[in-house]
Amino acid sequence: MRPAPLSPALTGHTLGKTVYAADGNPLLTAGTRLTAQMIQTLRNRGYASVIIRNEFFPDLETDEAVGEETRVRTVALAKKAMEALTDGRQVSLTPVNRAVDELINALECRPPGHVHTLYWQRSIAEEIYAHSVNVCILSLIVGIGLGYSRSDLHKLGVGALFHDVGKLGCGELHRKATPLTPEEWELAKTHSRAGYDLLHDRAEISLLSAHVAWQHHERLDGSGYPRGLKGPEIHEFARIAAVANAFDALVADRPYRNGTPPHLVVGRLQPLAGRHLDPKMTGILFSRLERYPVGTIVTLVTGEVAVVTGQNAWQPERPRVRVVADRDHRLISPYDLNLAEHTAAAVREVLGDYPARVREHLADGSRGTV
Ligand SMILES: [Fe+2]
Repeated sequence: MRPAPLSPALTGHTLGKTVYAADGNPLLTAGTRLTAQMIQTLRNRGYASVIIRNEFFPDLETDEAVGEETRVRTVALAKKAMEALTDGRQVSLTPVNRAVDELINALECRPPGHVHTLYWQRSIAEEIYAHSVNVCILSLIVGIGLGYSRSDLHKLGVGALFHDVGKLGCGELHRKATPLTPEEWELAKTHSRAGYDLLHDRAEISLLSAHVAWQHHERLDGSGYPRGLKGPEIHEFARIAAVANAFDALVADRPYRNGTPPHLVVGRLQPLAGRHLDPKMTGILFSRLERYPVGTIVTLVTGEVAVVTGQNAWQPERPRVRVVADRDHRLISPYDLNLAEHTAAAVREVLGDYPARVREHLADGSRGTV
């Protein structure tokens, strides 16, 4: 499986993972062969990319940080709670508090150094809810890495889940299909304080969680907003959420650009560690997040073409791969290579698809033989 931009070129490809709306209802189930009409419908609903099955290696499965059912249910609960908080409606936050505990349970089961996989398919129209859950998951991965108690993980997780709740009060800005104008930016910047105001007097929410909403756009060097807090003035939970927020904002598709693949996000955020982002939190997150999702087609430094088949604990930049073609793109008898053990080999480049010559040869005779 691999993420692929939704375009007519995907007609005939098989959907690798079920696509869900933010309310938890499935739109298209895994295994569906995509038609031009389905692709158009998904695009109309705000999806820019989907996970497709690697047609030559259908056995490759992704292992996401949190099970599909839990993630989908949490997105639906986050949507319900965020909308009710914004509208000032009475809502029990018990289900959402429980959902955060379930995420903690799911993530704590993973062995130390586990390389986590992020969920990619999400609608731009309902992006804010999927983003909220991803920022929660990413923040919890860092909190677990820091050895936080259950109670601290819970406060961090709830704060991260609701970090952008103030955005819903900024009209349609969070759904806007073009970059924000300077005036809209000024309005958008009010969302962190607005989020704090919505959360801070709720009995079911810790004051520390509310501060995550208020402080998640502060930067280490004082150049953030709304208060220009510096270094230790920013609560540790908010410094974690800031890293998680920056990461997920870059991997997500936007109406005006496709999401950035994780290996490039790391390269973009690394220079900000120490200036805008807390370097310790950045380091913990980057050591536990996959760079190359399973199914990604890559070239190695040798020029050979390979498909990513798995991850290695503590070494997200050195996945397991299956080499399928030599440097001249001639098919070879496929063999597995663990880049953690063969340190002379490394990923050189991520390809959007197999090179034409490899695809031709694979289609010719090797389908399903490896
Ligand atoms: Fe935000």
